[in-house]
Amino acid sequence: MASAWNPCVLGKRLFKKHGIVPSVYGNGGNIRGLADMASIILRSVNNHPQPEVKPFLKWVGGKRQSLPHLMNIISHIDSFGRYYEPFVGGGALYYELWKGDFLASGATLTDINEKLIECYIQIRDNVENVISQLLKHANNHNNTYYYSVRCKIPRSPEARAARLIYLNKTCYNGLFRENSRGEFNVPLGRYTNPCICDITTLRACSLALSSAHISAKSFEYVVEMAQPGDLVYFDPPYQPTSRTASFTSYSKGGFNENCQRKLAEVFSTLALRGVYVLLSNSDTPLVNNIYQSFRISRTLARRNINSRCDLRGNTSEVAISNF
Ligand SMILES: C[S@@+](CC[C@H](N)C(=O)[O-])C[C@H]1O[C@@H](n2cnc3c(N)ncnc32)[C@H](O)[C@@H]1O
Repeated sequence: MASAWNPCVLGKRLFKKHGIVPSVYGNGGNIRGLADMASIILRSVNNHPQPEVKPFLKWVGGKRQSLPHLMNIISHIDSFGRYYEPFVGGGALYYELWKGDFLASGATLTDINEKLIECYIQIRDNVENVISQLLKHANNHNNTYYYSVRCKIPRSPEARAARLIYLNKTCYNGLFRENSRGEFNVPLGRYTNPCICDITTLRACSLALSSAHISAKSFEYVVEMAQPGDLVYFDPPYQPTSRTASFTSYSKGGFNENCQRKLAEVFSTLALRGVYVLLSNSDTPLVNNIYQSFRISRTLARRNINSRCDLRGNTSEVAISNF
């Protein structure tokens, strides 16, 4: 199956969309040429500059490695309406779709983590002020400074966003973990020269997020919102593959088996309505069982969050869809 992520197919789609005649394709097998032309058309016709856009946070469960697999599945749909991502986390798939110009009908990004969502909104609406606060953290960074920032919550939303990015880039493994009082409690990570303020990426993300609706919500809301022909991508906290592999606590309360089952109901309701639904999860018996009536494909991904080093490495993940 040809993939829309394959530059050849993406190039042809863009040529069609922008009314460019097929004779300019030249040699149909010249993938590089088509990719280059696709990129030129995106920049010149759409005024859509395709900067180096990628997640501005290092988020556990980030999907950058699984993007080819997910984009290949999405390429089975000719077009879709609004895009919803109810567990946005680092947002890797959103940026990939934005780069490919697939989000013309708009996007809604949500997550239950209010601090993460506040940070997204600040990057979208107030990126230069976040950058100036973050540069101060970058200039002052050391062991003592990290712990002094960790224990103070600033008053302004842009300073809170800069604090979240600073802690994310310098803490152990980019983890987001809070104690029962809602205080961030991850220790300093072991980085010799962490990239704390990547200005190009922050500005690129601000542009990519400029027309997205962003809010803090639990995933169930999407049942009320998504319409036939829309695309919903679910990337929930994964079902643990073993007792020691359980990292499900992105938020207070975690994401237990009941939540996985509730999510499967939401998935089925949307599928019945004619919404395109796609979901990532770990390849466990429970997940295979609750989604058995849908298409399931597998890919390997490297995961580093197991508490035991000997159990870190490549693990099988599933992508489940109704298309
Ligand atoms: C696996 S991460 C998402 C990874 C992300 N898609 C990426 O590419 O980086 C899971 C996310 O689900 C969020 N989450 C946990 N429970 C949730 C709920 N009930 N509703 C919405 N989001 C939830 C967490 O805050 C976390 O950001």
